[in-house]
Amino acid sequence: MAFKRMAIEDWFDRYQYQVEVNIGESGVKFRTVGDLNLALNDLGLRYGHHRGAPELRESIAQDYRGLTAENICVTVGASEAIFSLVAALTGPEGQVLVEHPNYPTLYEAGLSLDRQVEFLPLRYEAGFGLDLAQLEGKITPKTKLVMLTHPNNPAGSIISAQELRAVVELIEASNAYLLMDETYRDLSYDAPPPPAATLSPKAISVSTMSKAYGVPGIRIGWLAASQEIVDAVRAVREQVTICNSVIGERIAWEILKQKQQFLPSAREALLANLSVLKGWFAAQSDLEWVVPRAGVVGFPRLVSGASADGLCRLLVEKYKTFVVPGSVFQMPEYFRIGFGIERHELVEGLSRLDEALAEWKSQRK
Ligand SMILES: Cc1ncc(COP(=O)(O)O)c(C=O)c1O
Repeated sequence: MAFKRMAIEDWFDRYQYQVEVNIGESGVKFRTVGDLNLALNDLGLRYGHHRGAPELRESIAQDYRGLTAENICVTVGASEAIFSLVAALTGPEGQVLVEHPNYPTLYEAGLSLDRQVEFLPLRYEAGFGLDLAQLEGKITPKTKLVMLTHPNNPAGSIISAQELRAVVELIEASNAYLLMDETYRDLSYDAPPPPAATLSPKAISVSTMSKAYGVPGIRIGWLAASQEIVDAVRAVREQVTICNSVIGERIAWEILKQKQQFLPSAREALLANLSVLKGWFAAQSDLEWVVPRAGVVGFPRLVSGASADGLCRLLVEKYKTFVVPGSVFQMPEYFRIGFGIERHELVEGLSRLDEALAEWKSQRK
């Protein structure tokens, strides 16, 4: 089988429903249907438009200056957008260049499809920032797709507008497209760089309802790109999902109508949680981290350089508290912590993490 399970999804599938406290999620608090107060009785349950409902695409397109609904394809989460783009824009001879660490689909899709996958490491010592010289050095005539994620999951770093423009210049001078995963862009603390797709027809922006809006269960994401790329992705999707859930699309449309009411308070809450987390880290001698500059996740590591796997397993199994071990990102001395949740859950999770750390250390003596 070319397709192997992703370690991160195995971890989620195994533990996310077994825990009492979740300080590992990468989005804001999940919402319920009741929170949204929707009237869905008029919704026809027929197949949806293959690129997504026109009114939803119109609404999404408003965030992409210079682009229209024709440049939007709504997908089954950002995951399907990424997979379809790798399938549509690269062939077996082509090389894919992916920033690492990253949400694993960005490289697993290429590996599963037998593409040549090359990595662009983000280093702790550099604050997990993008190394432009390294990127330039790694782009070859065979590179067909460069994939970056900013704000980054799990590192919490973000590219500047100036860096993004420099990346786009490199892409325009190459044979490659740029896939910028902007899943966490709406959770930036300051004004984020413009969406990549607004800067060049060779740049694609990918995003989703899953993280900033707290509704991963509706499985709605999208990409913004040239019409040619939108058409190429539609061709891939027609063999996999055909169209999206019309219920998911309607919910996404309703939420996006209210995004200006929702996002500022969501950002305020996550910044307040970030201060709690900073206070907690200041008292830790066994952990160090790069303070996140955007998004809702941080990626601490054990100062000793030991693997955090045992700690994460103890935390989840005995203390019923969920974090994500760094080994699922191939960085075992790290773990991912999420702070998009309600304050009381974060505080409870950190207190259980304190206990688990103490127990884990005493076991290792
Ligand atoms: C950077 C990034 N891209 C894509 C995804 C997939 O999101 P979705 O739920 O929209 O498929 C995730 C999920 O964690 C992510 O972190």
